[in-house]
Amino acid sequence: MRTGTGETAVPAELDMNRFAPTKAAGTRTVDEVTGSRRLRRMRKAAWSRRLVQENHLTVDDLIWPIFLVDGENVREPIAAMPGVFRMSIDVAIREVERAAKLGIPAIATFPNVDLSLRDVTGSLILDPDNLTNRATRAIKAAVPEIGIITDAALDPFTSHGHDGVLRDGIIVNDETVEQVAAGAVLQAAAGADIIAPSDMMDGRIGVIRSALDDNGFQDVAIMSYATKFDSAFYGPYRDAIGTAGLLKGDKKTYYINAANSAEALRETEQDILEGTDMVMVKPGLPYLDIVRLLKDAFALPTFAYQVSGEYSMIQAAAANGWIDGERAMMESLLAFKRAGADGILTYFAPAVAEKLKG
Ligand code: PBG
Repeated sequence: MRTGTGETAVPAELDMNRFAPTKAAGTRTVDEVTGSRRLRRMRKAAWSRRLVQENHLTVDDLIWPIFLVDGENVREPIAAMPGVFRMSIDVAIREVERAAKLGIPAIATFPNVDLSLRDVTGSLILDPDNLTNRATRAIKAAVPEIGIITDAALDPFTSHGHDGVLRDGIIVNDETVEQVAAGAVLQAAAGADIIAPSDMMDGRIGVIRSALDDNGFQDVAIMSYATKFDSAFYGPYRDAIGTAGLLKGDKKTYYINAANSAEALRETEQDILEGTDMVMVKPGLPYLDIVRLLKDAFALPTFAYQVSGEYSMIQAAAANGWIDGERAMMESLLAFKRAGADGILTYFAPAVAEKLKG
């Protein structure tokens, strides 16, 4: 009888394998079939597992997306995203200070503006003193060492929740691009370090690049949401910025079909030709193949956005005791590194940074 260790035989009444048929199990030993190659050797102890670990998650990999609201001393929980809050600028400053102290390199801001300020064209993006720009100026002044990434898109400002100017049921590409580029210049003027256009309009990268350059912002970088897929995983975000009830229809005429990867390559190539400095894949975990594809094809700084739905799924399962939330958080982020991502936008950023500190 095989005992696995080659030591004393297990008493028959305790042998879980007492029905294992020795003959039918084959005549070759494990060493014969593996040629004595045993991958478990390097997994046998913590020190050897550490020694051969291929990928590492560090605080340098983290970008923290935050939600902003008007007001003072506001720290409003977002029901669909347990642990995430909409913050007024004063509160955001304190939180960003903490993030900077933890070593988080950059934040990405998303405004939830009052419904009365939204209109069909999202014209609030053209206000130099809108919530995004006020937050950038205030955070930059208080925490100059952290990078600020702003979302150049119309959806927080439109009364219909779409990312474009909507006319007769159609999202008008070129007019949207013109407006987003003008908004991006205002974001740069407020102190944004990286402009991140998230609307997937054609030509947005090139038009934003030349608008930035024409206005003296050669040093402001662009992180394109190069491959943004039409996805159910954005659900909780729309609650966070108050577009959930507004959005009519879907975003299929501008985001990429979840079934397509060749198209994702073409979109990214186009953004690179138009002058993007970095590319991003969004959502994250269900699209790791795209992260790998882009990294291998273009070797640009490549980022992934672990979006609201991905965050909420982990939090919800953890709250129910179905998974170990902290382990799932760390494992999901490490998976992005394995897939070739240089960094991850994640709502877990402060929690991860705390954990990495030990
Ligand atoms: C829209 C935008 C979205 C997110 C970031 N910018 C959602 C959408 O396109 O509807 C999603 C972020 C998340 O789900 O965490 N410009």
